[in-house]
Amino acid sequence: MRMGHTVNFKEELAARTARAEEVLARFLPPQEGPAKELADAMSYSLLAGGKRLRPVLMAETFAVFGGEGAVIEPFMAGMEMIHTHSLIHDDLPALDNDDLRRGRPTTHRVYGEAAAILAGDALLNYAYETMCRAFGMGHDTDAVARTLSLIAEKTGIRGMLGGQSVDVALEGKPIPADTLSYIYEKKTAALIEASMTAGAVLAGADEADTAVLLEAARKIGVAFQIRDDILDVEGDQAALGKPVHSDEKNNKTTYVTLYGLAEADRCVQKLSGEALALLSGLKADTSFLQELTRAMTTRRF
Ligand code: IPE
Ligand code: IPE
Ligand code: MG
Ligand code: MG
Ligand code: MG
Repeated sequence: MRMGHTVNFKEELAARTARAEEVLARFLPPQEGPAKELADAMSYSLLAGGKRLRPVLMAETFAVFGGEGAVIEPFMAGMEMIHTHSLIHDDLPALDNDDLRRGRPTTHRVYGEAAAILAGDALLNYAYETMCRAFGMGHDTDAVARTLSLIAEKTGIRGMLGGQSVDVALEGKPIPADTLSYIYEKKTAALIEASMTAGAVLAGADEADTAVLLEAARKIGVAFQIRDDILDVEGDQAALGKPVHSDEKNNKTTYVTLYGLAEADRCVQKLSGEALALLSGLKADTSFLQELTRAMTTRRF
C-alpha cells in the first residue's frame, strides 16, 4: 500500500500539501522590476493558503501510474496558478463581487480592480510559461505536450471558463437541471478532471485507465461544487476563509436552491460513492485518492 492505514490520512495529506506549497513557492514570478506591483498582486492570493487540492491530486495520479522525477512539478504549480486566477476573477465586482478569499481581503479589494484583472490574466499566462518548462526536463516530450493540451482544454471555453460564463449569464434566472449540470461540470469539475488526468497522462497511463479517472474526477468535481453550495448556506466563514451566503446575495440557482439541502447532500453522497467505485476498480493503488475523495466531499472548509 502506498499509504498505510486510514488513520495516517491526515498526516499524509498534510505532507503532500506541504510539498505542493514548496513546489509552488519555487515557481513564483520574481517580485521585482517595473512590474513588481503586478507580481505582488499575482502572489498575494496565491500565497494566502488554500487547500492545494489540485496539485496534490496531480502529484498523486502521477505517482500512482508510475511517474517519477520532477517533471510533474511545473504542472502542479501551473494548475494552482490557473485555479487561483479563476478565484481572483470569480471574486471581481462584475462576477461574484466578494470581499474575502483564503482568509484575506480579495485581490481587487487590496490592489484595485484593474490590478486584479491583470493579476488574474498574468497568472493564467504564467501558468503556461511555467508548465512549458517541463519540455526542458528530459521527459517524453509527446507526453508533456498531451498533458499541456488537456489542461488548456479543461481551462478554456470547453472547460472552466465556459462554465463560469454560463454561471454568470444566468444569475438571477431559473436554470434547468441539465444546464446546472453543465455549469458544475465545467466551472468546477473541469479543473479537477485536468488535475486527475494530467498526472496519469504524463506518467504514460493507458487510455482505458485515463478514461476511468476522468469519469471519477467529473463526479468528484460536481460533488465538490455541490458541497461548496451547501457550505455557502450552512458553513462557517472563518473556517472557509470566504463569505457565506454569496450565492443568495447573487440570486444564484444552485443544487441547494433547486433541490433543497437534504437532497443536495444526497447527490454529493451518491456522486462520491460512484467515484469511489470507479477508483477502486482500477488496478493501480488508489487508496490515497479514495481517502481524498471522501475528504473533499465531506469537507467543512
Ligand atoms: C474554490 O475552490 C472554488 C470552487 C471550485 C468551489 P477550493 O475550495 O479548492 O479553494 P481553495 O484553493 O482551497 O482556496
Ligand atoms: C466558482 O464557484 C468556481 C470557480 C472559481 C471557477 P463559486 O463562485 O461557488 O466559488 P467560490 O464559492 O466563490 O469559491
Ligand atoms: Mg462564482
Ligand atoms: Mg464565487
Ligand atoms: Mg461557492
